[in-house]
Amino acid sequence: MKTTEFTIELVRKVDESYPVVIGRDLAEAAVEMASRGDLAERRVAIITDSNVVDLYGTRLETAFAAAGRDAQTFVFPAGETSKTRAMKECLEDELIAAGYGRDSLVVALGGGVVTDLAGFVAATYARGLPYISLSTTLVGAADASVGGKTAVDVPAATNLIGAFHQPRAVLIDLDRWQTLTDDQIRDGLGETVKQACIADTEFFAALEEAFVARRLAVAEFVRDDALAELAARRNCQIKRDFVMSDVHEGNRRMGLNLGHTIGRALEAALGYTMTHGACIAIGLNLQARWSVEFGYMGAGEQERLERLLLAAGLPTEIPAGIEVEDIMAAMGHDKKAKGGEIRFVFQKGIGDLMVFDDGRFARPIGREEIRAFLGRQKGFAES
Ligand SMILES: NC(=O)c1ccc[n+]([C@@H]2O[C@H](COP(=O)([O-])OP(=O)(O)OC[C@H]3O[C@@H](n4cnc5c(N)ncnc54)[C@H](O)[C@@H]3O)[C@@H](O)[C@H]2O)c1
Ligand SMILES: [Zn+2]
Repeated sequence: MKTTEFTIELVRKVDESYPVVIGRDLAEAAVEMASRGDLAERRVAIITDSNVVDLYGTRLETAFAAAGRDAQTFVFPAGETSKTRAMKECLEDELIAAGYGRDSLVVALGGGVVTDLAGFVAATYARGLPYISLSTTLVGAADASVGGKTAVDVPAATNLIGAFHQPRAVLIDLDRWQTLTDDQIRDGLGETVKQACIADTEFFAALEEAFVARRLAVAEFVRDDALAELAARRNCQIKRDFVMSDVHEGNRRMGLNLGHTIGRALEAALGYTMTHGACIAIGLNLQARWSVEFGYMGAGEQERLERLLLAAGLPTEIPAGIEVEDIMAAMGHDKKAKGGEIRFVFQKGIGDLMVFDDGRFARPIGREEIRAFLGRQKGFAES
């Protein structure tokens, strides 16, 4: 029999633009966002975690009720261990039992775990529901809420199962930062310093002014209107600039991974006992030192970076008990290591990135060279 072939022509052109709102006490603003365009008639499912529900859940549900919207809250246990396929299924079953259909709107209320998990629920429920993120952590502002990546973890790797699903709006509620612990704030500051390093000298200088010159404590930093707004805005805008030019992580989006090749390997080698942001701080500092060795940035600029990280209470050296080989092994497993090559993004001074000969934002480095570099770092040099 003759084989038949024909084409289903479907060229997709979609406008996935969305607003980012930064301010204080944004419950009513979230309700207003949820009443725009086709969202207005939808039944609302607020998805949040067991910590955030106590801090803010009622406030948001009440704001929806006051606007005459049908909104119900779905809560899962707080923490990264909830970011699983099983928890996604559990939430889906609860939505089904409550009768949520295609005419629903998901509102993710919480940090990165909530926006990743609720966003992924929204991506597949009834073949895709719109969702709004109301971010409550600095990590959320720095990284997790803009970009459209949603996912859950599996034992083999974090964020391995997921979807690109852009939110319809992102709200960064600065009031919510008041209840974050110092370590949670520092977790977000690691990524914040990275964003400044890759794209914004002035933002970096403002962080230096706050932490190095004025010696602000991290809790004071998030309470300061101007600084909190600046951090939320520049974080989201820098992420937007990288994402807009490269939605699916072909090349430029790689720039967001500055400090992450070493940082993420260290995080895995430590069995995820240190926050992501703290590991990124170490990765940033080490990769900046390497940048100096390669002549991509001056020694004085690396010293400024190290001083800023330390002033913000972030670590800058690989902790005791970790061996070079632990990091090497973890680096090989990184899902972003392409074809066995290990690629590194390097900053060019402060506020800019190196672009290599072929227009790439990351350059491959051989394992022996990496091993030798790590071996020269404090803590390893004498062993
Ligand atoms: N999608 C992306 O592009 C992206 C980017 C970066 C990180 N992430 C993901 O984000 C997650 C980390 O984000 P996170 O640190 O926000 O995680 P999280 O949501 O687990 O929040 C951290 C802790 O803070 C609590 N919390 C949240 N808001 C609070 C508040 N206002 N006051 C007090 N406590 C509060 C949470 O209940 C939790 O215990 C990881 O799963 C990571 O993979 C995703
Ligand atoms: Zn990161």
